[in-house]
Amino acid sequence: MTTSQAVLTKVVLITGASSGIGRATALRLAREGHQVVLGARREDRLAMIAQEIEAAGGKAGVRRLDVTDREDVAAFADAAAERHGRIDVIVNNAGVMPLSRLDALLTDQWDQMIGANVRGLLHGIAAALPHFQRQGGGHFVTVASIGAHQVVPTGVVYCATKYAAWAITEGLRQELDPSIRVTTVSPGVVESDLADSINDTLAREAMRAYRADAVPPDSIADAISYAIGQPPGVDVNELVIRPARQR
Ligand SMILES: NC(=O)c1ccc[n+]([C@@H]2O[C@H](COP(=O)([O-])OP(=O)(O)OC[C@H]3O[C@@H](n4cnc5c(N)ncnc54)[C@H](OP(=O)(O)O)[C@@H]3O)[C@@H](O)[C@H]2O)c1
Repeated sequence: MTTSQAVLTKVVLITGASSGIGRATALRLAREGHQVVLGARREDRLAMIAQEIEAAGGKAGVRRLDVTDREDVAAFADAAAERHGRIDVIVNNAGVMPLSRLDALLTDQWDQMIGANVRGLLHGIAAALPHFQRQGGGHFVTVASIGAHQVVPTGVVYCATKYAAWAITEGLRQELDPSIRVTTVSPGVVESDLADSINDTLAREAMRAYRADAVPPDSIADAISYAIGQPPGVDVNELVIRPARQR
């Protein structure tokens, strides 16, 4: 491998790669020559995305992954490191958003959000960090949300999980050796399946107007590509990307 290839070609793990932002990021990074490793629960979707990447001349690996299971996430990272000899980037993107007001008491859905959006992120950090420390470098990318910066009715628990994602990622940055870079990407409204899991009628109605203006998932993939494409001494810590019309 030449020096320029070593800089340009990275092994990038992406959680929640079966749709939306994760899928767009996988396609974008693979197009740029990175080797992507895709994780999510819907293996059929992952296989289709890998086929699409390979048909375009790129390289992709897939593995069924449930980020709420700490051992599963560790095995995802370990298998990638064993296969490729290293991990350069983990994009902790998997997340769910079944919104509702607190007084609807949909407590199982609160647990789902805490499980995927907070525990899942921590599991991703725990899985990749030993590899980054052993290698003397790496890059954590957290897909948080505009909900990490503002709370809205029906989004209380979701926003709390994203505030947590922001805090965990910023704390990680402060604690780590500078050889390991840390980026939080906070999207506003993005076209994806995310809102499909909202089954509370009131929240669904509220979101219909809120989500009328949306950016394509490619816009978030662009931001992730920009952050990981910087030279090793440059750490892009935070990016907020939202539709121009979103207040
Ligand atoms: N769309 C937006 O407006 C928006 C705005 C701000 C932030 N975000 C954030 O962006 C991230 C991606 O969301 P998206 O908009 O691309 O929505 P999406 O299309 O619904 O994608 C969510 C991804 O997360 C995966 N996932 C969910 N639970 C998982 C679990 N337990 N284990 C592994 N994978 C899991 C899903 O895959 P499987 O179901 O196959 O497991 C899917 O690939 C989320 O963290 C979301 O909070 C989205």
